[in-house]
Amino acid sequence: MADVDFIKSRLTSHPDFPKKGIVFLDIFPILRDPLAFETLITHLVHHITSTTIPKSPTGKIDVVVGLDARGFLLGPIIALRLGAAFAPVRKKGKLPGQCVSATYEKEYGADSFEMQADSIKPGQTVIVVDDLIATGGSARAAGQLISDLGGRTIEYLFIIELLFLKGASTLDAPIYSVVQSD
Ligand code: ADE
Repeated sequence: MADVDFIKSRLTSHPDFPKKGIVFLDIFPILRDPLAFETLITHLVHHITSTTIPKSPTGKIDVVVGLDARGFLLGPIIALRLGAAFAPVRKKGKLPGQCVSATYEKEYGADSFEMQADSIKPGQTVIVVDDLIATGGSARAAGQLISDLGGRTIEYLFIIELLFLKGASTLDAPIYSVVQSD
């Protein structure tokens, strides 16, 4: 079985979670299966080294940014494999020291994300990692924080892309998704 089909076969869908009308796609069965998790990480790292890094103007990725919360499950592992730094984007009020913040729209009202001001240096190349892109609101806020710090976002990477919400077209850099759902 091709690696993408293997990863896809481990996703489970949960109708009407967390509320009626939403089909929730759960990535945790991938993490429960060490071979599936290894296949996922290897697939993403292969994409980054073969396709993303050659497009970087500096020929490298300096920082992997993971989004609160499921981006934290992937980002540090990918960063270690690339020999890059990891930096978290967290919900407001969780990070110590000087921070930059950006507000984004969620299903109900607004929320704010923060990054530590010293987590990206001006001119550094960055990739953003999360489990899923829906409307792209949280990835867009992360992109804003990265550019506020002078970073250059090269690509956004996700396990799952919900194509019908067209989040990719709202971002300031290309996206890569392992599995697409419509
Ligand atoms: N976040 C937003 N939409 C989602 C979905 N359908 N499944 C999992 N996480 C989500």
